[in-house]
Amino acid sequence: MESIGPAGLQPGERVLGCPQEGLPLPSDRSELVQECLQQFKVTRTQLQQIQASLLDSMEQALKGQASPASTVRMLPTYVGSTPHGTEQGNFLVLELGATGASLRVLWVTLTGIKGHRVEPRSQEFVIPEEVVLGTGQQLFDFAACCLSEFLDAHPVENQGLQLGFSFSFPCHQTGLDRSTLISWTKGFRCSGVEGQDVVQLLRDAIQRQGAYSIDVVAVVNDTVGTMMGCEPGTGPCEIGLIVDTGTNACYMEEARHVAALDEDRGRTCVSIEWGSFDNDRVLGPVMTTFDHALDQESLNPGAQRFEKMIGGLYLGELVRLVLAHLARRGILFGGCTSPALLSQGSIRLEYVAMMESPSTGAAHVHTILQDLGLSLEASDAELVQRVCAVVCTRAAQLCAAALAAVLTRLQHSREQQTLQVAVATGGQVFERHPRFHSVLQETVMLLVPECDVSFIPSVDGGGRGVAMVTAVAARLAAHRRLLEETLAPFQLNTKQLEAVQVQMREAMAKGLRGETSSLRMLPTYVRATPDGSERGDFLALDLGGTNFRVLLVRLTEGGVQIINQVYSIPECVAQGSGQQLFDHIVDCIVDFQQRQGLSGQSLPLGFTFSFPCKQVGLDQGILLSWTKGFNASDCEGHDVVHLLREAIKRRQAVELNVVAIVNDTVGTMMSCGYEDPRCEMGLIVGTGTNACYMEELQNVVDVAGESGQMCINMEWGAFGDDGSLGMLSTCFDTSVDQASINPGKQRFEKMISGMYLGEIVRHILLHLTSVGVLFRGQQTQCLQTRDIFKTKFLSEIESDSLALRQVRTILEDLGLPLTSDDALMVLEVCQAVSRRAAQLCGAGVAAVVEKIRENRGLEELTVSVGVDGTLYKLHPHFSSLVTATVQELAPRCKVIFLQSEDGSGKGAALVTAVACRLAQKTRV
Ligand code: BG6
Ligand code: GLC
Ligand code: GLC
Repeated sequence: MESIGPAGLQPGERVLGCPQEGLPLPSDRSELVQECLQQFKVTRTQLQQIQASLLDSMEQALKGQASPASTVRMLPTYVGSTPHGTEQGNFLVLELGATGASLRVLWVTLTGIKGHRVEPRSQEFVIPEEVVLGTGQQLFDFAACCLSEFLDAHPVENQGLQLGFSFSFPCHQTGLDRSTLISWTKGFRCSGVEGQDVVQLLRDAIQRQGAYSIDVVAVVNDTVGTMMGCEPGTGPCEIGLIVDTGTNACYMEEARHVAALDEDRGRTCVSIEWGSFDNDRVLGPVMTTFDHALDQESLNPGAQRFEKMIGGLYLGELVRLVLAHLARRGILFGGCTSPALLSQGSIRLEYVAMMESPSTGAAHVHTILQDLGLSLEASDAELVQRVCAVVCTRAAQLCAAALAAVLTRLQHSREQQTLQVAVATGGQVFERHPRFHSVLQETVMLLVPECDVSFIPSVDGGGRGVAMVTAVAARLAAHRRLLEETLAPFQLNTKQLEAVQVQMREAMAKGLRGETSSLRMLPTYVRATPDGSERGDFLALDLGGTNFRVLLVRLTEGGVQIINQVYSIPECVAQGSGQQLFDHIVDCIVDFQQRQGLSGQSLPLGFTFSFPCKQVGLDQGILLSWTKGFNASDCEGHDVVHLLREAIKRRQAVELNVVAIVNDTVGTMMSCGYEDPRCEMGLIVGTGTNACYMEELQNVVDVAGESGQMCINMEWGAFGDDGSLGMLSTCFDTSVDQASINPGKQRFEKMISGMYLGEIVRHILLHLTSVGVLFRGQQTQCLQTRDIFKTKFLSEIESDSLALRQVRTILEDLGLPLTSDDALMVLEVCQAVSRRAAQLCGAGVAAVVEKIRENRGLEELTVSVGVDGTLYKLHPHFSSLVTATVQELAPRCKVIFLQSEDGSGKGAALVTAVACRLAQKTRV
C-alpha cells in the first residue's frame, strides 16, 4: 500500500491544483475506491480479538502487573458508590479537556430529591491556541479567569463556593481531591503540568486570581461525571462511556480486584483509559495508512492509537486524509485538491456528521466542500458520504468491541452469566451522530448477546455527576475537618512539651524537699546498682503488671537462671479484701514451691510490688494508694510486707524470708544494671507508668546521710494530680478519669499507660460517631462497652506492616462495622493518642536525665535507662517517639534505652541478694 506523507502529500506531488495526466477510467476508479475504503472494514473476528485482548489488558492492569505504558491504565477514581440521589447543595463545576479546546463552567443545584432536576447554568469559553500549547500556569490562570467571569455574570452567594473539577486526561488519583496528570492527550500540551497535582495547580491559580474564594473539593474524569449524573430507570448505572474529542470509559469494579487499592469490600469506580490501548497484534491489522499518517502528524505520535481511531478530534481528520488521497488519485473533485483540504483540522467532526446525514447530507457535502475550495462533480457527493460512513462505522464498531470487553469484565467480576446493566453515554460524537450510536448498539449485541444493555444519554454533559461527587467529597472533607479539630488538642508542640518538662522538674524538687507535690519521690533504700558479684538462689514475687508471677532466680558465676510461673489474679480478688488478696498470693507461692520441689526451704524473697509505697527500710513498704484497677480493702496505709508475712502465718507450714520490697521501676533498673553499670534510671510503660532514678542522698530530705546515692521511686503516674496538667487535658481524658475507680488520681498515667489509652480512643470514637463522622453516625452497643479497646489493639492497628483492610478486620472483630474511610480515621485517632502518650513520657524522661546531669555538674551525660512494659515493648512507634522527644528536650544527654528482658522479678532478686550480702557483712 502506498504511503502518505506528513501533510497528506505524495512525493513529487504539487501542493495544489489538478493532475497533469488524465483521470482514471471508471472501471479502475471503482477498484481504487474499493481498495481505499476496504481498509476501514473490520471483521467480526477482528472485533472479537480486540475485545479479548483489551479484556486481558484490563485484567492484567487491575492485578497491578507491570504493564507497558501503551496498554490500558485502570485508574482508581476514589468514587466508591453510585449516587444515592440524596446529595444536595449548590456546586460550581469546571470542565476541562472533554470537548476540544474549550472550557465550561456550570452552576449545578442538587435538590436531594430523586427525579427532581434543576437546569444548571453554564457558560462555555474557548481556550486560545497559545494557551493550549503554552505553559501550565497560563492554562490554569485562564481557567481561574473564566471562573471569575462566570461568577461575575451569574452572581451567587460568594460564600463557601465548592467546586468539582472535571479534568479529562489520564491521572493518578490518590484521593478525591488529589490527582497527578500522567500525560496530556487530545491536542493539549501545556508545559509543567505532567507529574503535577492538577487540583493544586487550580487552587494556586484561583488564589493568584484572588477574586473569589473557591474550595476545589473534588476532581473527576468526564467518564465518571457521566456515570454519576445518570438517573437510570431500573437499577444503578455502572458504566460511563465517553466518545467526545477522545474516548474512554469507567465502570464499577469490585474493590478487592483492584490491587492498587487497599480495600477488599464494596465497589470502586475505575477509569479504564482505553484510549491508550495498543496491542499491535490485534490493532495492527485494522490500522490503515491514514491512521498511521494521522498519528505521525499528531502532537503525540505513537500514543493513544486506539483513541485516534474513535475520538471526535480525529474522525474529521481521517475523512480529510481519505478525501485528499482520493482527490490526488483523480477519483474525487476532478483530481484537484485545495489548500484547505490539505491543511490539518479543516474537516471538523460536525462537518462529518452533517455530511453523513441521510436526508440533508448531500447538500451539506456541497456547501462544506465548496467552502474548502473544492469543486464537486456529480458522483462526488455520494463517495464523500461513503467515506464519512466507513470512518464512523469503524469507530463505532471499535468502540463497541471495547465496551464489550468492559461488559465481559463485569460478568467476570460479578460472576454472572447474564448481565443487565445501564451505560451512561456522553460526548459530542454521541450527540451529533445518531448513526454512531446505532452501530455501537448493534455491534455490542453481536459481541455480547448475553448482556442486556441499556444506553442512557447524559443530560448536561456530566456536570450533574461531577456535582454529585463534589457533594460526597465535601461531606468527607467536613468530616476530616471535624476529625482534625477533635485530634488537635492531642498534637503537642515543643513548647508545650518543654513546659511539661519544666513542671516535672519543679514537682521533683518539691517532692524531694518533702513539700506538697504531685510527685512523691519515694526513697527505696536501694543505694547502689548491682556490681555483678551477687550469688545465690532467691524467690521473687512480681505483682502489679499484666501478670502476677512467682519466680526462682539463681545467680551463679555462669549467669542468671530464672524459672517463673504466671498466676492469675481475678478481678474479684484484686478488688476484694486485702486478706483474700494476700492469701491468694501465698497460695500461689506454695503451689510454685511444690511444683519446683522447693517445699520446706526458706529462700530469701524479693517482692516486686508495683504500687506506690512509703518505705522506711528495704523490707518495709506502706501502701499509699492502690493504682491501676487494684482496690483490695484494708491495705492502704499498711505495710505490705507485714500483710504478706501475716498471710504466710495464716497458711502455717510455709516459711518465707521476705527481705526486700521493690517497685517494678527499681526492679527493672536493677535488672538492666546487672548488664550495664551506666543504668541509673528505670522506666515502666505498661499497664501503668512510672520511673525511678539514682538521686544524690543529700537532696533527699526524708533520709539521713549526706553522701552517696539512693534510688527514688518517683511515682510519676500521679504527676498533675494537683491540676498542673489541666492545660493539656482534653474532655476525653476527663471522661476516662471520671469513669475510673480512682477519679482525679494518676492523671499523667491516665494520659500515657496501656490501661487507659484504649479507653481514650474509645471515648474519641464515641464522640466522632455522635457528630456523624464515624460509623455513619450509628452508635453501637460495643462501643459503649468499657475497656473494649485494649492497648494491644492500638499496637496492632498502628503496625506498619498492617494493611488498612486488616485494621478493619481487627475492628470488625470488636463488633464495629466500618467502611475503609472509618478504618483510616480510627487509625489516625490511635496514632494521635499514642503519639501524645510517647511524647509526654519523653518529656518526663528528659526532666529526669537533665536532673541527673545537673546533680553531677556535667556538661554532658551518658546514661542508660532500663525499660519495661507491654506498651513500650509492643507498640510499633512508641519507643522511637520517646527517644526523639528526649533528644529534642535534653540535647546534652545521651540516653540509651535498654529493654529489660526478664521483668522486674530478676531485679527484686538482685536487690535481695545485695541486702543479704550486706546483712552478712554486718553480722561478721
Ligand atoms: C515488668 C514487671 O517488668 O513490667 C511487671 O515484671 C511490671 O511487674 C511490668 O509491672 C510492667 O508492664 P505491664 O505491661 O505488665 O504492666
Ligand atoms: C482521553 C482522556 C480520558 C478521557 C477521554 C474522553 O482519552 O485521556 O481521560 O476520559 O479522553 O474525554
Ligand atoms: C503505677 C504504680 C507504680 C508502678 C507503675 C508501673 O503507676 O503506682 O508504682 O511503678 O504503675 O507499673
